[in-house]
Amino acid sequence: MLGARLRVAAEHGGIDDAELANLGVDPAHVLDLSVSINPFGPCTAVAQALAHAPYHRYPDPEARACRRTMADALATTPERIAVGNGATELLWGLVGLLARRGRGPALLAEPCFGEVRAACRVHGVPVRAIRADRNGNIARDLDALAAAAREQPPCLVYLCNPSSPDGAITPIDEVAAFARTLSPLPLVLDESFLSLSDRHADLHVALPEHVVRVRSLTKDHGIPGVRVGYALAAPELVTALSQWRPAWTVGAAAQAVCSVALEQHAFLTDSRVRLRGERAALSTSLRDLGLECFPSGAPYLAFPYPDARALRRHLLREHAIAVRDCNSFGLPDVVRIGVTTAAARERLQTALEAVLAGAETR
Ligand SMILES: Cc1ncc(COP(=O)(O)O)c(C=O)c1O
Repeated sequence: MLGARLRVAAEHGGIDDAELANLGVDPAHVLDLSVSINPFGPCTAVAQALAHAPYHRYPDPEARACRRTMADALATTPERIAVGNGATELLWGLVGLLARRGRGPALLAEPCFGEVRAACRVHGVPVRAIRADRNGNIARDLDALAAAAREQPPCLVYLCNPSSPDGAITPIDEVAAFARTLSPLPLVLDESFLSLSDRHADLHVALPEHVVRVRSLTKDHGIPGVRVGYALAAPELVTALSQWRPAWTVGAAAQAVCSVALEQHAFLTDSRVRLRGERAALSTSLRDLGLECFPSGAPYLAFPYPDARALRRHLLREHAIAVRDCNSFGLPDVVRIGVTTAAARERLQTALEAVLAGAETR
């Protein structure tokens, strides 16, 4: 029973080596568009920090030195920063901790990142989900979310902004107004894609004290193998989060990245400009194929497709291209694609042309 639950918890729609072996696809040849990370990273400073990480000694379990550097870059204090083994570890920790403190279910704005529901399942936290309407767009309704919170106060509210899989972004003043209606209930605001999005300036706008902002340096710097994220939260919550997990979950490499990552302004600016241009080009090339994307301000695009799972499997087997079918979001008829480079776009376009022309059967 527990095994079955955990297997559900681990379902992402990303690729894994066992699946590739099954399909006879060489991992070295796969173009992975199922993830959405900065395709231009890591920059030199991050690569050097990784190369020189002091892995011969245990890392500081409190990551004090890197939190001090991060605090300067974020114009805050180290007491307000929690560093995690990816944003995912922080989200899991927050679910466990906030559910013990509060009463009521976790209230999720879905569709959203599946790890939050998985964390609720494993921590035994009931979930109440307000699903976005599928009315042309995947438009979420913050009023409906606020009404649900009033009706049955939850232990936490989870909102992902930019949203995934569609890439819509709620402006920060609307997020702030929404947060105020919830006060004092904790709002876990997943900003993992905000830094690479069109509304990156919202990163620097202050939000009320009961909002926990979770971010991913994994994504910003294109280093998913390193696992590094951070949260901005009230000091007592940061302390509690740190006490609520095993020691040393944030290793030397991740801490070395934290010490330099937030200062790479030129790299991040350049990445955003290139991603924005590439997103426009990808959207046009998909439209030319009859695939209309949802409006996105994020480094990914999603479009409706009748059997997303079959398309994903076909592209992987025949073209070594991994796209994200959105079954794990509860959207079996949506495909998401990470924005990357012109070369990747052209390879995808050729493959999709063959599929859509019916030259290939699935
Ligand atoms: C919305 C969202 N939040 C968080 C994460 C996890 O980020 P990290 O790799 O830093 O754990 C993901 C990963 O895909 C995501 O889509």
